[in-house]
Amino acid sequence: MTSKNVQAIKRIGILTSGGDAPGMNAAIRSVVLAAHHYHIEVIGFCHGYNGLICQEYIEQARALTLLEVNNVIHLGGTLLKSARCQLMLEDQGLQLAANTLDEYNIDALIVVGGDGSFKGLLALQRFWSGQVIGIPGTIDNDVDGTDYTIGFATAVNTGIEAIDKIRDTADAFERIFIVELMGRHSGHITFNVGIACAAEQVLTFENFSGEDPAVKLQQLASEIVKAKEIRHTSYIIVIAENLWQGGATELAKQLKQYSGMECTPCILGHIQRGGSPVAKDRILATKMGVAAVQGIMDGKTNVMVAEQDNAMYLIALEEAVKHHKLVSQQLVDAQQNILALTAQTQC
Ligand code: F6P
Repeated sequence: MTSKNVQAIKRIGILTSGGDAPGMNAAIRSVVLAAHHYHIEVIGFCHGYNGLICQEYIEQARALTLLEVNNVIHLGGTLLKSARCQLMLEDQGLQLAANTLDEYNIDALIVVGGDGSFKGLLALQRFWSGQVIGIPGTIDNDVDGTDYTIGFATAVNTGIEAIDKIRDTADAFERIFIVELMGRHSGHITFNVGIACAAEQVLTFENFSGEDPAVKLQQLASEIVKAKEIRHTSYIIVIAENLWQGGATELAKQLKQYSGMECTPCILGHIQRGGSPVAKDRILATKMGVAAVQGIMDGKTNVMVAEQDNAMYLIALEEAVKHHKLVSQQLVDAQQNILALTAQTQC
């Protein structure tokens, strides 16, 4: 690594914020190792931004040693803990955070989180003049400007493993299952899991928005009936959380009321956030941690580390938070085409 800023930077602060994601520990480790290369100390702040604002959490701040980040690359969750922090929406909270960073003589702050966490980082700059860098860590993969966020690949794998198991029992009983996946307001997890599990229906914000739910219900019911007439087997619908009012449970109830069909709802929930990160997340987190420290050493601020076509970039934080990244149209079309082909081969 080369650098312009070697003399100026003595202390980097790091925190993990928002929904934890598998690979956050790998990112912390990578930041500590890369900083160590430059003889820079890394202070870990605990419980997200609360670690900069609330006294009980400020007291938990500590220098992260090489020993502490040894053997953490395979661990889910985050050794720094995480939280959402409403106080970062208020000037008073931002001022307190800035004061803490100054008291700890922090030259640059790295935040591992999603777009909400980055909005906090942007706001912090009104009160604090140190360098700020974001590392995208969220299972939702909805941060714009990066192909992938840390934790997404593991969440998709967890979803696949769970639905493969559901498929076994669904097949045995020829049942209809409606499986709800996380993603907040984006369909990345649902789409990818749906394709990988050959789900008969994928319902996300990308292929269902603004339509009349009653029309959709009718359409779903007739497609299920048609499929069941052709082959007596299981039928799996994957649905993004927050898409259908009342979620998978309500959709199952409505399908039963509308058509008499028994559907079993299953909400995968927080299981998707836990577990040991898969190779892809460990590697992405490691690359992003190094890139963040290198960015700091190069004097960069107000940026987010992003991976595009396997290369690392630093993009403006403002750009990253402007829009939620949508599932690519290519993937939406691919899923449609596969469904159409499946229907044709069954006729
Ligand atoms: O952003 C990550 C995420 O897991 C979303 O997929 C989900 O909607 C949300 O967090 C759940 O948050 P909480 O654990 O605070 O209920």
